[in-house]
This record gives sequence, C-alpha cells and structure tokens, in this order.
Amino acid sequence: MSEPRVLLIIGGGIAAYKAPELVRQLKAQGIASRCLLTAAAEQFVSPLSLASVSGDKVYENLFDLTDEAEMGHIQLSRDADLIVVAPATADMIGKMAQGLANDLASTTLLATDKPVMIAPAMNVRMWEHPATQRNLDTLRADGVTLIGPDEGDMACGEFGLGRMSDPVEIAAAAKQLIAKAPRADLKPAVAPDTPLTGRKILVTAGPTHEPIDPVRYIANRSSGKQGYAVAEALAALGADVHLISGPTALNDPRGVTTTRVETARDMLAACQQALPVDAAIMAAAVADWRPEQAQDSKIKKTEAGLQDIKLTENPDILASLAQADSNRPALVVGFAAETHTVEAHANDKLARKNCDWIVANDVSLNSSVEGGVMGGDENQIHLISKSGTQSWDKMPKTEVAAKLAHQVAGFFTDHKESQ
Ligand code: C5P
Repeated sequence: MSEPRVLLIIGGGIAAYKAPELVRQLKAQGIASRCLLTAAAEQFVSPLSLASVSGDKVYENLFDLTDEAEMGHIQLSRDADLIVVAPATADMIGKMAQGLANDLASTTLLATDKPVMIAPAMNVRMWEHPATQRNLDTLRADGVTLIGPDEGDMACGEFGLGRMSDPVEIAAAAKQLIAKAPRADLKPAVAPDTPLTGRKILVTAGPTHEPIDPVRYIANRSSGKQGYAVAEALAALGADVHLISGPTALNDPRGVTTTRVETARDMLAACQQALPVDAAIMAAAVADWRPEQAQDSKIKKTEAGLQDIKLTENPDILASLAQADSNRPALVVGFAAETHTVEAHANDKLARKNCDWIVANDVSLNSSVEGGVMGGDENQIHLISKSGTQSWDKMPKTEVAAKLAHQVAGFFTDHKESQ
C-alpha cells in the first residue's frame, strides 16, 4: 500500500513558521504531506521552503486557474488520508464552524469527507473568548479532532494556553488518527481507474555509479526522469510499485516504494530481493563496466593507476531477471538507448536478453544540451515486441510513461484468462 498522505492546511499565525518542521516530523512517521497555505500564512512561511521539504507542489489560492484546472479543491482532499490544520487560527476555526468557504483552505475543508485534525494557535484571550470556545464545541460535534493548544510563553509576550502543540506531537497524533481510520474507507467515493491494482511491478531507473576510489566513479548521463515517471504512472493505475534507483537528483515518486542503490551489483541484489513480481520495467542505464578493483584511498594524480584503470564487466540485470525460470516476471521490459539503427539494435536486444518488449530511443541528439533525451523532459520512442513495432511521436517523458503504463495494464487484461 502507498504511504499515507496528509493535506496540511497552514493558517496565518506566527506558528506557521513551524510548518516545515511539521512536514519533517510527518515524514519521520512515514507520512507524506501536501501543503496548502492561506494568503496570511504566506507572511510567516515561504511556499518554496515547504515545497522543498514536502517534495510536492504547494497550493496557495483559490483563484489560481492553473491549479483549479489541475486539481480542484475537491480533488485536493481526495488524495489525502487526513487533513491537518496547523496552525488553526481563531479566524480559521470560526470559518470552519460556520461552514464558510471563501478561499482555497476553507473551500477544501468544506468539500471534504476526510478526517480533520486541528492544532489551534492563538493569543490566550482569543482562545478563552466564548466565541472561540463555542466554535470549538461545534467542531468537536462535527467530529473534528483537536490537538493542543499548549500552555507557555507566547510570541505576543503573554503566558497561557494558546501555543501550538509541538510538531513531534502533532505528527504522532496524525499517525494514530490515520491508523484508526481504515484506509479503505478513505478511498474516493467514485472508484478510480486502477486496472493494475494487485499487480507488483519492479522498475529500475537512473545511472549506476561504479567507484574507482573513494572520490571518483564511472557514471553516465541518465537523469532517471523517464524511469521515475514510469514508476509513478504505474502506481497511478493501482500497481504496487517498487522502484530501485541509482543515484539521481530526483525526489522519490509519489505512491512508490523506492530503494536507492549505487552500483550495478547493488541494483542486481535489490532487484533479486524484490522478486517475485508480475512485471519488471528496466529503465536504468546500468554501467556495463566497472573498475576491477575500487581503491580504498584516493589515487594520487602522480600515481600510476588512473591512466590504466582495468575494467570488468557488470552483471546484466535485465538478462538475469528475464531468464526463463519460475521467478521470471510475466512481463519483462527493457530499454535501449541507441545512437544509430535504433530499431535493428532493439530487435536484437529483445532476443538476446529474452525480454518481452523493448522501449527504444535515439539518444544521438546532443545529450549534453538541454532538450537532449538524456536529462531532457521529452522522449521519442519505439515500443518493440515480438509482434511488431509501435513508433510514438515525441512527447513529454510523463506522457510516454502514462502511455506505457496503459500498455502494461492492457497486457495484464489480455493475459488474465491464461493466469
Ligand atoms: O545492452 P544495453 O545496456 O543497451 O541494454 C539496455 C537495457 O538493459 C536496459 O533496460 C537496462 O536497464 C538493461 N541493463 C541491465 N544491466 C546491465 C546493462 C543493461 O539491466 N548491466
């Protein structure tokens, strides 16, 4: 099952500065966060810092047409297992109690059927005011969970109840709430299109690094973007995806179990551990060769050794997984990066490595410039199988991934009867 998700709504109080720490603490509990800031909250915490700690887009205001098109207020809470409002200001609590909806935060809260927890933070007299207490009673009656506030010195110089609970405690309470609510009940009312539900799929991505000494290694230009996009697209169709990734600068894809490795041999071991799976999509650009002997200490410029590195061949992970034995995945897909006679080489690889499909692309375009296939955001591929070749137009790697994921889903639909 994919990791639980919190939609964190950040209200406009001074305690909003603790939001990045809360995201970190949620992550430590194995919970992913998507952040939504009120306009006032932006005065206290930057969307950029939240985007970097959460690894996700930060949502800011109702009238952003792109966001609305991409993900409306209803969809935003659908993706979450729990909504946490922290800090919950007196104003936000009042709006929630009244059912007001005049910005993205309040609209989302009114449109959700997910559990909600609030962590109030405000001046002690605002907290004690009968209006606030009345609103809180309403929220409790509506089934909203409260955490805090704590007593202590406040930013306004006063002492008393009103300080937001510690992020560690909020994260622990969030974990308990998610555990209590059966996740099946949290699924959207409308069944999503998830033809790969119940399928275990292994994806490899990125380059491998083959050490020469503690500071140097052999690598290649692979960014991992295509493989990560494939992993995310398969997970979006309901698959239980395990991504084994070489070193990349990318965040773990959403809804995917990710294992990071360094060398080809580590990648092979991680893949073998992940078996059995229904399908293996091998998008990694595995180094074919590694230095025979990685030195324990840095080789000096003056030493012999650098001009004469002895190489030895790495194991072929794809070929070893595709070998016909009882653990062979029903569908094995290899990738081929070629610089010429792309289709001919890919067909040869299909047979040589005993795979079912090859995703072949031409990397002859200058790969060091932006827009080249390796590291770029677009790809033009041929999907080659024993029954023929499909050539797709050039398109963003995310679209290639979505199309490929649908082909994988089609494969399992076609082969259902024979399983
Ligand atoms: O032979 P070539 O390296 O072009 O094959 C590319 C395909 O084989 C990719 O799917 C890649 O992930 C896989 N491969 C592998 N282990 C290797 C080399 C390539 O799994 N050592």
